[in-house]
Amino acid sequence: MDKLLIRGGRPLSGDVEISGAKNAALPILLASLLADTPCRFSNVPELRDVNTSLALLNQLGAKAKRLSDGCVEIDASCVNNQVASYELVKTMRASVLVLGPLLAKFGEATVSLPGGCAIGARPVNLHLSGMEQMGAEISVEGGYIKAQVKGRLKGCHIFMDMVSVGATENLMMAAVLAEGVTVIENAAREPEIVDLANCLNAMGAKVTGAGTPKVSIKGVASLKGCDYQVLPDRIETGTFLVAAAATRGHIRCLHAAPETLDAVIDKLRKMGAEVATGPDWIELNMHGKQAKAVNISTDPHPGFPTDMQAQFVALNAIASGAATVTETIFENRFMHVPELHRMGAEIELRGNSAVTNGDSKLKGAPVMATDLRASASLIIAALVASECETTIDRIYHLDRGYEKIEEKLSRLGADIKRIKE
Ligand code: EPZ
Repeated sequence: MDKLLIRGGRPLSGDVEISGAKNAALPILLASLLADTPCRFSNVPELRDVNTSLALLNQLGAKAKRLSDGCVEIDASCVNNQVASYELVKTMRASVLVLGPLLAKFGEATVSLPGGCAIGARPVNLHLSGMEQMGAEISVEGGYIKAQVKGRLKGCHIFMDMVSVGATENLMMAAVLAEGVTVIENAAREPEIVDLANCLNAMGAKVTGAGTPKVSIKGVASLKGCDYQVLPDRIETGTFLVAAAATRGHIRCLHAAPETLDAVIDKLRKMGAEVATGPDWIELNMHGKQAKAVNISTDPHPGFPTDMQAQFVALNAIASGAATVTETIFENRFMHVPELHRMGAEIELRGNSAVTNGDSKLKGAPVMATDLRASASLIIAALVASECETTIDRIYHLDRGYEKIEEKLSRLGADIKRIKE
């Protein structure tokens, strides 16, 4: 398994180009199953999860490939299999998002239960109950979700018991070809939901209200392929901004979407960062100063994103002053903390909160990535640790969600190498 070797102590400086958003690309690629003619997507990041999605689409009989110009082209007109196997689904939970499109387009789908992951049990009950309300017959047998509907799904009024990004996406995709109007109340409002809705509408769907708690979808008879550009990755952007703040540097993130990062930018400013933004760029300058620790509680969008929690725990540990970070979305999302302890970070876990007193002196050490965003927080800590070298193991977690991260960090002045094993 590949490792990263990092020697910290240098402030990051310079420009970094932000890639397309993983969490927008995954549902958008799978939404191509709904279209009768080929789709072409641009700004699709080169990530393990994207490759897994393309493999899954090809397993279903679609023709999905990355073109020489970097775009992804998917022709789902020849889909002849509605079974998403355990082999693929176990490597990427988001595969469950084929349920809605397959049910809507073919009236049947067999999808492996995604199972849990490092950060939590992550059930899919909200996905399934919504589809049952739309007329699907769903059973779970032998680790597989078996869904079918006679004729078309029926539009209906769905109230989500809790805010769920994936369930909102799955139900939106199920509803675009349903009979009548579907209203999803208490819908997730993430920018990736809006991007998916914009893509579906480019295919001829009639989705309104995406980005608000009430999304309405008027079913249509069919959808055609489209050309669509995936929005920039706000979590990748936030990760680079936190790395710059932790190393007291000065960077600019280009091809970014500042309007998707209000909560993160607000916290960085409260930590003492000077942050300027333009239409598609964000500049952060610490002027060589140490950050001040801030209290954070994660929340569904537009609240503070849970996918930025691990990065800010690392930043708070080395910032000045005491602070508490509370995780309200996932039940086990502090796996980075024991690894940060190994580097000298003083963090105390109290239930679903991480308490720091600040001014931790970090030293490089061998550490292990446990999940995608935990890996990012270990990199941030390693970029600060000036004594000793840090080796980060199991970085396949990282490769799921960060495109060419060691190249991008090297260009910002970091001393970071990938050791292929
Ligand atoms: C999406 O996961 C993202 N993944 C996650 O990003 C992100 O952390 C999460 O949304 C929250 O923003 C993708 O978009 C591919 P949820 P998702 O359904 O859809 C519970 C990353 O690092 N829940 O909004 O799985 C669930 O257990 C990843 O890029 C149910 O109980 O998240 C969790 O506690 C990690 N029943 C909460 O809701 C359900 O049917 C929010 O989950 C569905 C969810």
